[in-house]
Amino acid sequence: MILYSPLFSSPIRPRGITSSSPTPRVNSDASDSFCPSGLCSCGRRRLIEAAVATSLFPVFPSTSVASKLQSDDYTATLRKVHPPRPDWYEELYASVLNKGMRTYEDEIAGCKSELFARLKGNAERVLEIGIGTGPNLRYYSADDGVRVFGVDPNRKMERYAQAAAVAAGLPLSNFEFIQAVGEAIPLDDASVDAVVGTLVLCSVKDVDKTLKEIKRVLRPGGLYLFVEHVAAKDGTPLRFIQSVLDPLQQTLADGCHLTRETGTNISRSGFSGVELSMTSLSSASIINPQIYGVASK
Ligand SMILES: C[S@@+](CC[C@H](N)C(=O)[O-])C[C@H]1O[C@@H](n2cnc3c(N)ncnc32)[C@H](O)[C@@H]1O
Repeated sequence: MILYSPLFSSPIRPRGITSSSPTPRVNSDASDSFCPSGLCSCGRRRLIEAAVATSLFPVFPSTSVASKLQSDDYTATLRKVHPPRPDWYEELYASVLNKGMRTYEDEIAGCKSELFARLKGNAERVLEIGIGTGPNLRYYSADDGVRVFGVDPNRKMERYAQAAAVAAGLPLSNFEFIQAVGEAIPLDDASVDAVVGTLVLCSVKDVDKTLKEIKRVLRPGGLYLFVEHVAAKDGTPLRFIQSVLDPLQQTLADGCHLTRETGTNISRSGFSGVELSMTSLSSASIINPQIYGVASK
């Protein structure tokens, strides 16, 4: 596919969530640990706003994922936002994504390492929206006992994500794939310590609704880690190419948009603080520039 390839650059088995999670630690100095120089090794940093909120009384899920998924609301939204694609299309997309992103992942690894360092000892329950084939699972340490919920509408991603979890040493008992969309996340309010989303707000149907859901499921003081590709600067040749190829990209790459101003959406979505940097990657070709950062609830 143009887009997520080097060229240009099982059914659900929810196991449910219990309410017995211990109190997560509060990241009181989180903003200091993120690229303190202001100039990250992987790109130019734009500090839009930085403030970290904390909470002493997080609330954990009382309702299981299984029971939520049986609710008409979640399944209806899944069908509406991401109508079922043919099996072959979903498998092809998953397999191309799995193989085609390796160079990109190598190049973005420095940025991701900085981001995920923010979760160290600070996040026991993590939700990843649009988890895809699970390229971020390697950033969790099995020793941290982290539990990861991976939401994605494409169920063909599950086996790749599970394999990535195993390769990362994350026990499968600590990883749950949930077939759902970011616009209707089947988790309770304030039920996770962190939300991760990489290259996904380009693909969701409704960016603002997804951001609202991310905020809803995050506990107060929780962190949202993001890496997203956004529209190039207006008037540049790259921006022109993106506009021309946008419809094709949406068809080939399962709804991915090339011209979204996702940084603006994130900055305006009501998080208490947003740290946002921008970089350009040689492996990403037309899915440049990319923004990455941390938002605090
Ligand atoms: C470009 S892939 C990125 C996957 C992975 N996050 C990564 O960094 O490689 C976009 C992912 O978003 C998923 N997706 C598409 N629409 C979605 C939605 N409405 N909510 C959540 N995920 C969605 C796709 O199935 C796909 O796995």
